[in-house]
Amino acid sequence: MTEIVREKEQIQTLVASYRTAGLRVAVVPTMGGLHDGHLALVRQAAKTADRIILTIYVNPTQFAAHEDLDSYPRQLEADRAACEALGLVDAIYAPLVMYHDAHATMVTPTGAAAMLEGEARPHFFTGVATIVLKLFHHVPADEAFFGEKDYQQLCVIRQMVRDLDIPIQIAAVPTERAPDGLALSSRNAYLSEDERAIAPQLYQAMRQAAHALLSGVDTGEVLGKMATSLMGAGFAAIDYIALRDPVTLAETDIVTSDTRLLVAAHLGKTRLIDNASLSDLVPR
Ligand code: PAF
Repeated sequence: MTEIVREKEQIQTLVASYRTAGLRVAVVPTMGGLHDGHLALVRQAAKTADRIILTIYVNPTQFAAHEDLDSYPRQLEADRAACEALGLVDAIYAPLVMYHDAHATMVTPTGAAAMLEGEARPHFFTGVATIVLKLFHHVPADEAFFGEKDYQQLCVIRQMVRDLDIPIQIAAVPTERAPDGLALSSRNAYLSEDERAIAPQLYQAMRQAAHALLSGVDTGEVLGKMATSLMGAGFAAIDYIALRDPVTLAETDIVTSDTRLLVAAHLGKTRLIDNASLSDLVPR
């Protein structure tokens, strides 16, 4: 049975024993509610790592008061069973406490964090950067795996690792999608049947936009049409549709195959995000 470790000292000792034995250790940070997207991170990690630690912690500091902290899926036994069935996870680190009562230090990233999600959810990247740094201390692995589904999060973590000289490599894993194109996310569970039927139109709209952009159609016109088609499909509001540099996330007028299209839109009560490079959106 995949072991669940609760204590920081215990996981640090386990990771140290692996590394002393010359084994390469990967960490896969998650908030649980495991789906195929998370399992893809583990499968990717297994290609280079000898040992894999998956972390599960629903981090309160990355949720605003009005967000879904209380309803966020918590299903440790099902998550353990998913890891067991996959047969690649050596231990699950599921700490009960990550912030002591007098916790008063947060990591506040700017740069890649100061836009898009950072504007829509101002608390978010401070919460993510703080917990990820703490998890890296608890699980001092050689490499950490993050999904491109949360592309801006990936950029912010890479930026933090570079800026704070954290001795860990960051690996990116492409987004897992349902057969109809919807990016897998724990929050898809909130969609009603009708909303689930509409949701794949987000990806379809991204593909149409990428095709038009790479054919030379004006950027403003394409992004405007994309917004109109999403609202017409039943999305309630759009937080952003943006074309960005794939590394810095800076705004860019230059459309290349690497340019990243990022979108956040509300469907009913659920906020969906998605992104891809233009070349990945247009079949070659
Ligand atoms: O992507 C997530 O699941 C979370 O933001 C992370 C990286 C585990 C930090 O809580």
